[in-house]
Amino acid sequence: MSTWTPDSWKNKPILQQPTYTDEVALNKVLKELKSYPPLVFAGEARRLKEQLADVANGDAFLLQGGDCAESFSEFHANNIRDTFKVLMQMAVVMTYSAGVPVVKVGRLAGQFAKPRSSDTETFDGIELASYRGDIINGVEFTKEARIPDPERMIQAYNQASATQNLLRAFATGGMADLHQVHSWNLDFAHKSEVAEQYEKLAQEIERSLKFMKACGITSKTYRNLRETDFYTSHEALLLPYEEAFTRKDSLTGEWYNTAAHMVWIGDRTRQLDGAHIEYMKGINNPIGVKAGPSMDPEDLVKLCNTLNPKNEAGRMNIIVRMGADKVGDGMPKLIRAIEAEGMNVVWSCDPMHGNTIKSSNNYKTRPVDAILTEMKQFFQVHKAEGSYGGGVHLEMTGKNVTECIGGSFTVTEEDLSSRYHTHCDPRLNADQSLELAFLIADTLKEAKK
Ligand code: PEP
Ligand code: CO
Repeated sequence: MSTWTPDSWKNKPILQQPTYTDEVALNKVLKELKSYPPLVFAGEARRLKEQLADVANGDAFLLQGGDCAESFSEFHANNIRDTFKVLMQMAVVMTYSAGVPVVKVGRLAGQFAKPRSSDTETFDGIELASYRGDIINGVEFTKEARIPDPERMIQAYNQASATQNLLRAFATGGMADLHQVHSWNLDFAHKSEVAEQYEKLAQEIERSLKFMKACGITSKTYRNLRETDFYTSHEALLLPYEEAFTRKDSLTGEWYNTAAHMVWIGDRTRQLDGAHIEYMKGINNPIGVKAGPSMDPEDLVKLCNTLNPKNEAGRMNIIVRMGADKVGDGMPKLIRAIEAEGMNVVWSCDPMHGNTIKSSNNYKTRPVDAILTEMKQFFQVHKAEGSYGGGVHLEMTGKNVTECIGGSFTVTEEDLSSRYHTHCDPRLNADQSLELAFLIADTLKEAKK
């Protein structure tokens, strides 16, 4: 630990990085990024850690969601607003139905870099370097677009900064006021079954608010009614960028990643002696580690020991992403290993990444049924093991996309081509996300009994 520095990751083997050909240009960009203001303050990351400690202790629930990959082309205030609204809807459903506080963390304001299963992609007999996210190269299928360009990091920072600014404004400027509960329902969602279910709940909340007003509790008198805490997160994949925003907190002298409140390590870059783990060791933010089907229980324990030597509650979030068919077999042994060591962790469920398939018309998609099944199994296994399934990690959007098939307002394989906008993995749309929120609320309610 004593030898850790923000760039000590450079001495370790690293995976999933671009090769920048122009070193001079790269260094110029990194120097510039190091001079830019941080996007978050260390005190906020500490506050999130405290709230995640409540999750680890079974007293709150973590809702983490947003884009698979943010993109330069989809950068628009309405997209940010609509994703924010859906997350607010989901949180209020869980809070109201299940009576638990919900910690809200967006996969937003910096979620740009993508790990890929292959270094190249072939299309129509032409092989090109894979797209690695807008912070690295372009999604267009041309040789030029796929060349990693360091200048993209500057654009990603600027976009993350504007996104963060708008999210803060929404969280504290009135959009998150509980009295807005009706307005969080998105226009296109008004006709679906879950939207109706939501309307009913919103009416009940409105009645409660009227009662509270009569008792003198209003948005004016009570901050928690008019504001919310909304945090940001992304995968800490592109380490030169993350390093540039790793700053020493002036209050505590500790190192923090100041590009997001929370960062996580992907399933492909969690090697114990690898660069990504080395980097994560030294920052004091809450962190996530993805655990796919190949995660070995002993390795998970070693990871927790390495990343959280003081066994601090709220520091470690284990994000299980096994797939609907594997979680029942794969997760109990992880839980037992962690519980046997008495480790404080948040267990959250990513029901997205283990359930990706190719549709018969060649779209990368995810069946909502499989997503719901993995979620249900995740909670069942935790119940059986006596542990607490405390969170979800979702790829979702407030846009009315057709990327995942199924759901109560059914998206079919034929619909996929109609509004398939993702730059990487298929996301749940607003209806599908809300459906999931009701399911989680039921499960939490059940668990409370
Ligand atoms: C992701 O979260 O977008 C991702 C790539 O996940 P994983 O590392 O679990 O595959
Ligand atoms: Co993804």
